[in-house]
Amino acid sequence: MSKIKIAVLVSGGGTNLQALIDAEKSGIIKSGSISLVISNNETAYALERAKAADIKTTVITKKACGSQDAFEEKLIEILKGENIDLIVLAGFMSILSVKFTSRFDKRIINVHPSLIPSFCGKGFYGLKVHEAALEKGVKVTGATVHFVNEIPDGGEIILQKAVCVEDGDTPEILQKRVMEEAEWKILPEAVEKVSYKLIKGV
Ligand code: GAR
Repeated sequence: MSKIKIAVLVSGGGTNLQALIDAEKSGIIKSGSISLVISNNETAYALERAKAADIKTTVITKKACGSQDAFEEKLIEILKGENIDLIVLAGFMSILSVKFTSRFDKRIINVHPSLIPSFCGKGFYGLKVHEAALEKGVKVTGATVHFVNEIPDGGEIILQKAVCVEDGDTPEILQKRVMEEAEWKILPEAVEKVSYKLIKGV
């Protein structure tokens, strides 16, 4: 069975990328293969993780491109040039315009560290999401994998998993628990689910 080609877009540590790499190795992801990692941050540790797994890497920064438009044009050029079928945003800290998202309808997925529609949208990323959850005093949070459209964190939900907030949690402790118990599990599962559907054409 031929596999679909996956590009993973990253900005930072890349623990979700690592979960995807491990899931491909262990066979949880079997309908797709990670063939490219793109970072918008040249110092992202995620790049080291990709290199260690022998995955091609590219760095594209908004600064070098000069504008969001030129940045997205460059991204599109590279993704099309590599015949990428599915784009996974794994800790990618840049909002993509409708011009970009409409080019890849139902072919971009994102992992977000809360139960959407809570604590999501513009300004909610990384640790800020967990700070907001603790400030609100929610007792349950979690992670969501969703399709990406022009609305930040607004696309169709693919998978979600709940995680308990515990007494004494700091944003860092909560972030780690959400990653371990939810993100690193549902992101690979969602990638396999979407890849399988793309192969079957459903
Ligand atoms: C993850 O928690 C991811 O869900 C979040 O940033 C972290 C990246 O960690 N993404 C967002 O907040 C996007 N809105 P990683 O680089 O170790 O995967």
